[in-house]
Amino acid sequence: MTARYETHGPVAVITLDNPPVNGLSLPTRRAITEGIARAEADAAVMAIVITGAGKAFSGGADIKEFTTPAATAEPNLPSVIAMVEGASKPVVAAVHSVAMGGGLELALGCHYRVAARSTQVALPEVKLGLVPGAGGTQRLPRVLGVETALNMIVSGEPVKAEVLAQLPGQKLFDEVVDSDVLAAAVALAGRVASLRPLPRVRDLPVKHPNPDGYFQFARNTVKAMARNLPAPARCVDCVEQSMKASFEAGLRYEREAIMALTFTPESRALRHAFFAERATSKIPDVPAGTPLRPIARVAVIGAGTMGGGIAMNFLNAGLPVVMLEQKQEALDRGVATIRKNYEAQVKKGKLKEDKYQQRMALLSTTLDYAELKDADIVIEAVFEEIGVKEAVFRRLDEVMKPGAILATNTSTLDVDRIAGFTKRPQDVIGTHFFSPANVMKLLEVVRGKATAKDVLATVMDLGRKIKKTCVVSGVCDGFIGNRMIEQYSRQAGFLLEEGCTPQQVDRAVEKFGFAMGPFRMGDLAGNDIGWAIRKRRYVEKPGMRYSKTADLLCEMGRYGQKTSAGWYDYAPGKRDALPSATVEQMIVEHRRTLGVSPRKISDDEIVHRLVYALVNEGAKIVEEGIALRASDIDMVYLTGYGFPLFRGGPMCYADTVGLFNVVQTMKRFAANPLDDADFWQPAPLLARLAAEGGSFS
Ligand code: NAI
Repeated sequence: MTARYETHGPVAVITLDNPPVNGLSLPTRRAITEGIARAEADAAVMAIVITGAGKAFSGGADIKEFTTPAATAEPNLPSVIAMVEGASKPVVAAVHSVAMGGGLELALGCHYRVAARSTQVALPEVKLGLVPGAGGTQRLPRVLGVETALNMIVSGEPVKAEVLAQLPGQKLFDEVVDSDVLAAAVALAGRVASLRPLPRVRDLPVKHPNPDGYFQFARNTVKAMARNLPAPARCVDCVEQSMKASFEAGLRYEREAIMALTFTPESRALRHAFFAERATSKIPDVPAGTPLRPIARVAVIGAGTMGGGIAMNFLNAGLPVVMLEQKQEALDRGVATIRKNYEAQVKKGKLKEDKYQQRMALLSTTLDYAELKDADIVIEAVFEEIGVKEAVFRRLDEVMKPGAILATNTSTLDVDRIAGFTKRPQDVIGTHFFSPANVMKLLEVVRGKATAKDVLATVMDLGRKIKKTCVVSGVCDGFIGNRMIEQYSRQAGFLLEEGCTPQQVDRAVEKFGFAMGPFRMGDLAGNDIGWAIRKRRYVEKPGMRYSKTADLLCEMGRYGQKTSAGWYDYAPGKRDALPSATVEQMIVEHRRTLGVSPRKISDDEIVHRLVYALVNEGAKIVEEGIALRASDIDMVYLTGYGFPLFRGGPMCYADTVGLFNVVQTMKRFAANPLDDADFWQPAPLLARLAAEGGSFS
């Protein structure tokens, strides 16, 4: 059943009942229209209430129906709302918990609205690259005014009913109540049962004292904020129509806008990311109901760059943390950094002073392993040396209580080997945070070959509690993200040898939409990190070719921002990347020793060599089962590496280009004598999908 029908005296109550959030799927929409028709036909019914069962009024359109025939099949949502609005008996919406997207639009089609104070109200379609498609852009300005409505529509952010109810002149809610919203709505329905004419939102005027000035301002703002996304600007257009056109013409305008946006690559990418995010938590052999180990106390080993940031995540979530170091000075430094980070947030008004104090009160420090014995999980973030990790894990094995989870934040070492330092490898797991760990969304959860299922499930759950996007990775060098970025960096190096400057590469990649190009990223992260990895590679894989430019750079001591010199020059204390004549000279000389005459390389070639390097390695990672699915790789790149959201991640981007085309381009790259033909051998999965006309999704 997707909606129930019952009568409370002369009031018919239609209760949406389509768990989990009463999505407005085709069967639900049918059930609403049947309910309205039944109430209309029943002479004993004087008024109608629509409400939602469970934990929502309605979360809106059923996104699983998107781009399927069911999305627009009659009765589609605009038709349902037209029927509600055109009913001959008053219809009251009893809104509670959440009224999002189509749910809010349905409420706006009702004649009266009663809301529970804490209801979250939003039109979030813009987050999927769309505009609201069932009258939201036409009705919301009529009840909240143009500016409030447009802010909600362009941001997609939820606002509490009690906040909206306080706006002067608002007509969104007739009543906002603390108590039983359904009872209040039924009572209101009884009181208004014989009042005519029925109030309709569509009949309300839309006003603004300076519409031309305001909409110009809105357009400029949106253009600056959403450079690569078409939907926000279309939201402005639609709301403007609510003022300038008739209601019917405005609806038609909105309809056309959503139809056009649905088929844009940007909307596809955003919808892909939306589903990809949800998919990350699904682990085929670890079902949803897997029992979790309770986590009430956290320990962190190492109070350096990562340890401090990791600790902050748990303090923010209200979990007590004990931090262990070898020396008091290191602890003091770590705590001071945490304080400095929180104080910066307080100064910016992002954190209240009392919250800051509460969080600091949850933090304790120690030099003594014995004090970790109560912790339910310990996360190790000490130096990246296997000997140091070994000493720490042997010690943890002695002191931690049975069942405690032992996690390592290693970025390059073998998690299975680390697990082998303990007598409880089933309790060992990798938690690969990204720097700064208190800010970055991504958490790679590294599943060792012995990791117990409940340990994995518990860490995934804990990751959600600290608001991370958790992606499961198998054990391999670099896990998902860094293993791929190594190939991307190799290509970036080859591009320098063939004729590019670092700034040309960065500019092209940033124009494509990346937050930062490879060389600016290297300077930020520290070029010495990649250098250390390459030195290892020269021994492990002597046949693998790298450009020497990055080594030459490091030999000059140019590690990046921390040495005020890297691929770029930096003024002391500044982060602005200034093109470096020294680096250009170094690259030119290096080309000379190789006997290479530089050529002009197009932005298109730069971008595709870098992105397809990611795609090809990504395909291998999926095939080897290191990633559970291609969309997990996209989430890693969207949340950890600044890949442009409007392109949906590297694998989604490859699907958009078409895998056949990707492989053809890779063949062209392979024919370049200065590139590496082996590098461009398509991964078997990619080759197969390209040949079959398939896609990663
Ligand atoms: P760091 O050098 O800033 O901090 C390491 C801390 O561990 C230092 O404070 C040191 O005093 C402490 N320490 C060393 N040996 C210890 C021991 N035996 N017992 C207790 N404390 C000890 O290093 P960072 O950058 O925080 O890295 C830590 C781990 O996180 C490494 O495994 C690294 O690969 C990994 N990682 C680092 C990332 C980064 O961007 N810095 C990103 C992701 C992972």
